[in-house]
This record gives sequence, structure tokens and C-alpha cells, in this order.
Amino acid sequence: MKSISSAPLDSLVATTATAVDEFRELGHAHVPGVCSRDEVASYRPFISDAAQQRNPEPPPLETRDTYGKAFVQSTNLWRLDDAVKAFVWAPRFARLAADLLGVPGVRLYHDQALFKEVGGGPTPWHQDQVYWPLDTDRTITMWMPLVDVPDEVGSMTFASGSHRLGDIGAFDISDASDATVEDLVTARGLPLQTYGGMPAGDATFHAGWTLHRADANPTTTNREVFTVIWYADGARATEPRNLYQQWDLHMWLKGTAPGEIADGPRNPRLWPPPVT
Ligand code: SIN
Ligand code: NI
Repeated sequence: MKSISSAPLDSLVATTATAVDEFRELGHAHVPGVCSRDEVASYRPFISDAAQQRNPEPPPLETRDTYGKAFVQSTNLWRLDDAVKAFVWAPRFARLAADLLGVPGVRLYHDQALFKEVGGGPTPWHQDQVYWPLDTDRTITMWMPLVDVPDEVGSMTFASGSHRLGDIGAFDISDASDATVEDLVTARGLPLQTYGGMPAGDATFHAGWTLHRADANPTTTNREVFTVIWYADGARATEPRNLYQQWDLHMWLKGTAPGEIADGPRNPRLWPPPVT
């Protein structure tokens, strides 16, 4: 049923010193209970409807490439629905992001639902930030399951400490990025970590350069995950270095030219919370 009984998400959850240390040292962290089951249950129908609106008819799985098989990606859902906007703009999430990054303020880059369908393939190894025309490495993604994720599907696997490597040149999410990262992880003996199956409302956070991947979905249930990405307030847009960055500049930083502070209308400062 669609009712926002527990909105708004403006109560805060504590950012523990452990999570801050974990994020700084490893480039990823797990924060249990970011949302309660009731909170997730009250927002999930709005997120699902908006995702369906963005992607009404995804092409059949077997016709897609490796990236396409990994999940159906539905972006900037906050712009479609006020309830989803309340979720994405939640001070609770933005405060965690700022605390983990160790910065006074963060702005929204964009959100995306990542639904790994029944029979969906693995998410290849990659680095998110190759897509982002931003002059800072103070970037962070929250990855939150909207349904319990069983062990057979699991959450992401991270290469710990890889956020310090910067751009390793693996480029876009593909079989090629998977192979390049796999080789690098093996050659350097980077420690791998996963937080395993995860209840709805828990979240992982990872930095923009952290190497990560995820397993396939062999179950009969859609792996519904929602993600929000923020960057440190004050960051500037950069000249796009590839076609993906050109797209991102246009889509997620609309109104900001390269060299300018990225504070356009699609990039509200969410921590400290905007004055309403
Ligand atoms: C996934 O949800 O499978 C991957 C998410 C990500 O790459 O950040
Ligand atoms: Ni990613």
C-alpha cells in the first residue's frame, strides 16, 4: 500500500567512529539499520513505481550485453515523485555521507534504482568515478536494499584500499573492466571484502574510486536496491574526459559548465539540510 506513514526521514542515525575509520581506510563501510523495515516498506512502492515509469519495458535479458544483464538502472527518480524526492533528499542519508567523507557538506549527484532481475548477471568489476566529471575524489555512493538480500545474491564485493589508487584505467562497466580489475586485484593481492546478504534498510557506502563488483541473481526474486550519490560541497565540474562524462555533465550537472562550482538545480546541497 502506498502511504508515507513514517516520513520524513529527518531524524538522524549515529555515524559511528568504526564506520568512519572503515570508510577512510578501506574505501567502503557497512551501516546497519539506516532505515527501519517500516520506513523502507513505506517508500518502496513509490520507488518501484518511479523505476517502472523510467523503464517501462526493459529489453529481454538475453539481448543485453554484460552491463545490461547486471541490472535495470533507473536514474534520478527523485525528479519524478515527491515521496521519492523526500527519500533521496533525506538529511539522515546526506549526514552519513558527509560524516563518512569527512566533509562539512555534500551535494546530490544523482540517484538510481538498480534492480538485479531474476536471472540477472554479475555486476562486472569497475570504478564509478570514471563516469563523473568532478574535480574531487570526495564522492560517495549509498547502496541500500529495499528487500532482504539473501546470501546467494549478496551485496557488493569491494577491493579494500583501492580508493587510494585513483583512476586505474579500467574504463566503462564491461567484460573488459572486469578482466582489467581482476588482473590488478590479483597482481597486487588487494584484500576483498563483502558484507554478504543484507536486510532491507541496511546500507553500504563506497568511495568513487573504490573497485567493486556484485554476484548474479540465481533466485526467483528481484534484487531491489536503491542508490544515492553525493559529492563534497564546493567541488567543480571538469572538462569531460570521455563520452560518458559528457553525458553525465549534461544529465546530472545540468546548468554547470566545466570549471564552475557544481551547484546547479539538480545538485541541491543536502547536508547541512537546505533551508525550507
Ligand atoms: C550493483 O548493485 O550490482 C552494483 C552497484 C554499483 O556498482 O555501485
Ligand atoms: Ni558502481
